[in-house]
Amino acid sequence: MLHGKVAIVTGGAIGIGAATAHLLAKQGATMIIGDINQQAGLATVEQIRSNAGQAYFRHCDVSHEADIQALVQFALDHGGLDIMINNAGIGGQPAPLHLTENHNWQRVLEIDLTGVFWGQKYASQAMLAGGKGGAIVNVASIAGVAGSPNLGPYGVAKAGVIQMSKTGAIELAPAGIRINAVCPGWTETAILDGFEPSIQERLIRSIPLKRMGTPHEIAELIVFLASPAASFITGAEYIIDGGITSM
Ligand SMILES: NC(=O)c1ccc[n+]([C@@H]2O[C@H](COP(=O)([O-])OP(=O)(O)OC[C@H]3O[C@@H](n4cnc5c(N)ncnc54)[C@H](O)[C@@H]3O)[C@@H](O)[C@H]2O)c1
Repeated sequence: MLHGKVAIVTGGAIGIGAATAHLLAKQGATMIIGDINQQAGLATVEQIRSNAGQAYFRHCDVSHEADIQALVQFALDHGGLDIMINNAGIGGQPAPLHLTENHNWQRVLEIDLTGVFWGQKYASQAMLAGGKGGAIVNVASIAGVAGSPNLGPYGVAKAGVIQMSKTGAIELAPAGIRINAVCPGWTETAILDGFEPSIQERLIRSIPLKRMGTPHEIAELIVFLASPAASFITGAEYIIDGGITSM
């Protein structure tokens, strides 16, 4: 379904980003993985290639504007840019907002908000210049749709990502560029490694489906939104959380 398309996934070395890269490649897209984790990024590229997919790794720190510009240029040098998945993100140091260190606030916003801004900005410019439209999916979180105790900067950044997706979607709809946000709930990835097992068990008990999501389940939604099957969907925020926000 995505043959001939070129797609970027930031933070595509592991977790939700890697699962998304695998699925996009399976559908025929040429994958460009941008990440700071070169070893895992190259391993993901190798796995995609061993499944007959096309993939490249490019080192990219999304908190560096020049890295994102170079990542988008890399896609243009490999045939264009049709799909941009702004997925790279960090959770930051858990603390209530009134005790959050300034450097933690700044680091989370640099990666989780400004990094997505640059990803959306430079991908949009490339898609506009290409004149063929495109699809951008920004990975936000349920932390961006409700209060998120002890994850203040993260929740603020993710709320900003949802807002940025909607604003960009309206601005670029006339050019055929669709922008949507995906808001996962608790998902089994390395981002949760810092959580005590007892906290993870408590989290699971609070989820109506009584389990965390898998990276593959989140990737299925991201790839749907990036694909022509979602051609009438733009400016939307999709919650995928096992029911936790419905309570
Ligand atoms: N796992 C969850 O429960 C969950 C829930 C909601 C939203 N999310 C969001 O999903 C996205 C993916 O998270 P994940 O759970 O797969 O995490 P993960 O830690 O498994 O993967 C994150 C990836 O981003 C990369 N990365 C980190 N900082 C980067 C930077 N500055 N530049 C480029 N790459 C960088 C990492 O190297 C890694 O490959 C994030 O935006 C995260 O906030 C995750």
